[in-house]
This record gives sequence, C-alpha cells and structure tokens, in this order.
Amino acid sequence: MIESSDLRMTKIPLSHGAGHMPALGFGTLIPDPALTIAATRDALDAGFRHFDCAERYRNEREVGTALQAGLAGVGIAREDIFVTTKVLNNNHRPERVEPAFKASLERLGLKYLDLYLIHTPFAFQPGDEQDPRDQNGNVLYDRDVTLLDTWKAMESLVDHGKCGAIGLSDITLDTLKPLYESARIKPAVVQVESHPYLPETELLEFCKEKGIVLLAFAPLGHGMTPGLMADPVVSAIAARVGKTPAQVLLAWAVQRGTALLTTPTTAARAKENFDITRLPEDAFAEINGIKIRQRLNPVVSTGIPGFIPAKGQSA
Ligand SMILES: NC(=O)c1ccc[n+]([C@@H]2O[C@H](COP(=O)([O-])OP(=O)(O)OC[C@H]3O[C@@H](n4cnc5c(N)ncnc54)[C@H](OP(=O)(O)O)[C@@H]3O)[C@@H](O)[C@H]2O)c1
Repeated sequence: MIESSDLRMTKIPLSHGAGHMPALGFGTLIPDPALTIAATRDALDAGFRHFDCAERYRNEREVGTALQAGLAGVGIAREDIFVTTKVLNNNHRPERVEPAFKASLERLGLKYLDLYLIHTPFAFQPGDEQDPRDQNGNVLYDRDVTLLDTWKAMESLVDHGKCGAIGLSDITLDTLKPLYESARIKPAVVQVESHPYLPETELLEFCKEKGIVLLAFAPLGHGMTPGLMADPVVSAIAARVGKTPAQVLLAWAVQRGTALLTTPTTAARAKENFDITRLPEDAFAEINGIKIRQRLNPVVSTGIPGFIPAKGQSA
C-alpha cells in the first residue's frame, strides 16, 4: 500500500505493474438512472477517483455520461480515474466474455478499463437473460463452463491491452486458491463483502501474501439499521475522534490495507465519506476486537447478486 499521511489519497499497487487503485472507491449500484448521474458526479466532485460498475447494475450508460461530463468539468484526465466493471454470470462462456466487455466499454463511453471482474464465480445459462430461471424459479446454472475457462478469456483481454487488470468478485478463499494456482495471469483484485462484522481475515492474509488487493463492499453494512453504523464501539469511537460512524468505518477499512466501495447518494454524504482521517491505534484495535459476525449477502453460495432493478426502472 502506498502510505499517505492523508488517508484519502491512499493508493494500492496492482500486480503485474497494472498501476494503482485508489483505496477509496465509489460504487454505482444505484437503481435510479437520474440519481446515478447526480451521485456519480457528486462523488467525482468530492474527490473520488475510483468507480465500480457492473453490467448487472444496468446503468453503465448513466455512469459514463456522468464521468464524461465530470472529467470535462473538473478538468481531469481519463488516466486520473480508475474504472472497473464486471462480467455477469450469463456471459461466462469464453466466447461471450469479449463481447460483454466491449458492450460495457461502449455503454461507459470509454476506450479501456482499469479493471474487469468476474461478478460471481457461478456460471448461469448463457444468453441475454441476466437472471435465467426454470418454471419453479430455480436458477439455471451452466455446468458446461468452468471458472478457469472464463478466466482464460479474461486473460486474453489483458494480453490484448484492453484492460489493465482482472479479478474476481463474491469469491471464497476455497474457490480463489485453485484458480490462483492455475491462472497464467494472477487475479489482481478480489471484491467481497467485508466490514467489522465480516472481516474476512483469512482471505485478507492470503491476498496480502499474494499481492492481491481485497476490495471491500458493504463497508457501512449497506447502511442497514440496526447495523454497523449504530454499533456501540463504532459510535463511541466516532464521538471520541470527532468523526461520523461512516467515516470511522471507512477509515478502518483503508487502515487495514483494503480498498473499499461506498455508495453515498447525496453531495453531502459524498463529501463526508471522502473526508476520512487515520484512526488512533487504540480505536483501530477496538474495532478489530468486535466479536459480532454477520454476512449480509448470500451471493457467495448462490451466485445471485442481491440487487436487481425493477424492469423498466433503469437503463
Ligand atoms: N460484488 C458484489 O456482489 C457487490 C454487492 C453489493 C455492492 N457492490 C458494490 O459495492 C458498492 C457499495 O455498496 P454498499 O451498499 O456496499 O455501500 P455502503 O456505502 O456500505 O452502503 C450504502 C448505504 O449506506 C448509506 N450511506 C452511505 N453513506 C452514508 C453516510 N455517510 N451516513 C449514513 N448512511 C450512509 C446509503 O444511504 P443513501 O442511499 O441514503 O445515501 C446506502 O443506503 C456498490 O455500489 C457496488 O458497486 C458489489
């Protein structure tokens, strides 16, 4: 990790010389198209330079619109921002990966991506249906493609200079290890749910040992109540250090060496969530000592991402 006295500027090097990922990332899982544009623009204005997208979120076009307008407005270059998107489960067949990648690039209005992720390690029936089901509502998995097959197609994208780095999301250590061993180009990033109630310590240790960035989503526990932001340890530290619970949780995530994704949807919250400062060591240790354990997303066992915008709600 590139240490900075200013936690907001922390950058984490990616393997294979693929540049650096700003530790503070803005997630674009926002169902409403107009709000996607406004929130992405607010995040850019607040200082966020790392943007996490997905074909699944059905709003890459809106994110692209906000980024183009924002870059011109703020006067910063494409090279100064870090953009990720993800291939969904219905596009795991190797021949579907590059077309899915190109379609995302077109929607985002970008010439290259900094990072492309496999959204979940589960392949669904290939086709245009993102959420294929049988008549009983059961997911239709694709048993004829392995994760390594999909990974090799991801490696080709790096070979051809189309994206800087590749990685996986919603993966467990048990699934990551064999893929890591077999991969020609090792995963640079894993994006998983992680917060003080799900610290994923074993996975984080493996990642640090192998030079993989652990990119934490739900660092605020998805803002759910009751939940992390009302945790008594977090609230007491926030009062003590003069920060909000959200700022304390985000600082903790960066200080332990992860990158993170947060999704503030107002300009005020974008400023708040970017304005983090280093926690005193005793406060950091107190959060490490929290014993509650809670996983909010069952996606690691099913491959079904928790969020699907209602039909017609989003692009
Ligand atoms: N790989 C995956 O399967 C996966 C799954 C989920 C998410 N993600 C990624 O991770 C990103 C982050 O999503 P997340 O839900 O994990 O983000 P989060 O920041 O942990 O939670 C967002 C929620 O917290 C609230 N919030 C944000 N800032 C706040 C603050 N300062 N004070 C109080 N409440 C605040 C938001 O409320 P308001 O909307 O009212 O501001 C929203 O309800 C997503 O956008 C997506 O890019 C990936």
